[in-house]
Amino acid sequence: MVATLEKRDFPVRRLVLLASPRSAGKSLRFRGQEVQVLPVAQDSFQGVDIALFSAGGATSLQWAPVAARSGAVVIDNSSAWRMHAEVPLVVPEVNMQDASSRPLGIIANPNCSTIQMVVALKPLHDAAHIEHIVVSTYQSVSGKGHAAVEELWAQTRALASGKPIESKVMPGQIAMNLLCDWKAGAQEYSEEEWKMVHETRKILGDPSIGVSPTTVRVPVPCAHAESVFVRFKRPMKREEALSLLRKAPGVVLAEQTYAPGDHPQPAAAAGTDPVYVGRVREDLAVPGALNLWIVADNLLKGAALNAVQIAERL
Ligand SMILES: NC(=O)c1ccc[n+]([C@@H]2O[C@H](COP(=O)([O-])OP(=O)(O)OC[C@H]3O[C@@H](n4cnc5c(N)ncnc54)[C@H](OP(=O)(O)O)[C@@H]3O)[C@@H](O)[C@H]2O)c1
Repeated sequence: MVATLEKRDFPVRRLVLLASPRSAGKSLRFRGQEVQVLPVAQDSFQGVDIALFSAGGATSLQWAPVAARSGAVVIDNSSAWRMHAEVPLVVPEVNMQDASSRPLGIIANPNCSTIQMVVALKPLHDAAHIEHIVVSTYQSVSGKGHAAVEELWAQTRALASGKPIESKVMPGQIAMNLLCDWKAGAQEYSEEEWKMVHETRKILGDPSIGVSPTTVRVPVPCAHAESVFVRFKRPMKREEALSLLRKAPGVVLAEQTYAPGDHPQPAAAAGTDPVYVGRVREDLAVPGALNLWIVADNLLKGAALNAVQIAERL
């Protein structure tokens, strides 16, 4: 978030960096200056206009109301407030208008996998109204935080040198493996899968949209990929979808015909802002339905960039 504020030349007069006492005294570089990290406290938000939160759900539940009472508009990356009836859940390219109604002074930033999917599907939804989405995710390890990325590399090194692996952050081996590492939710679905169901419906403003998710963690450090099947109220052809996606805000479309290795990839998307859409093709079994491949950096468009874009629009 700090790097994105600097890169986009956000009009910051005073930058306040807050974390837990564990980080107190550390500093981050912003516009060539070292800015010290302070432990969050009751008076930390005085004179603050916008507070960008990314410190876990429990921290947001505790401190977002404090920041809002101090007059700041809170933009929260955690899942703590996303489904609260008085908190808008916003993706600027999709439903920025919802941010104007924020009675608690809090705006929620959606789940990283949901953000990249709705940015890509929005223009198609506006044209033909989505009825059903089947989504399978290939989520990078950075989605689980800094420590998880460290563990991926440690496990990879251990495996490469024939040593036993350790799993402290992940519930098992992630290097050279695939994991469903999210907490359990209802009906044999994970919490992450339910987030994709509920958040997609809230952002697109239609609780009747069917969402069938399967979320999988893959041994990739950064950037999520998704295979998406989508069926509409009326049939859509590939050509129409391409023409809509070509001019869609936040989307970079790869419309070349299929060729091995020639499609959006996490390694190339990591560190960049767009949502990459490729492999747009008509479904083989359901006439009028489409399949897409969607890739984006989960730390940027999936979190920090989306939050800063909301702040820019505010
Ligand atoms: N990673 C993603 O792709 C992604 C995407 C969307 C949303 N999110 C959400 O963003 C949040 C942060 O995720 P992350 O990946 O950045 O995790 P992370 O790498 O584990 O960082 C957590 C941050 O929160 C701070 N923190 C933890 N407990 C705190 C407390 N009690 N008081 C103040 N600060 C505290 C930590 O500071 P200390 O070192 O001082 O503890 C650290 O800076 C989470 O809510 C996550 O769900 C993450």
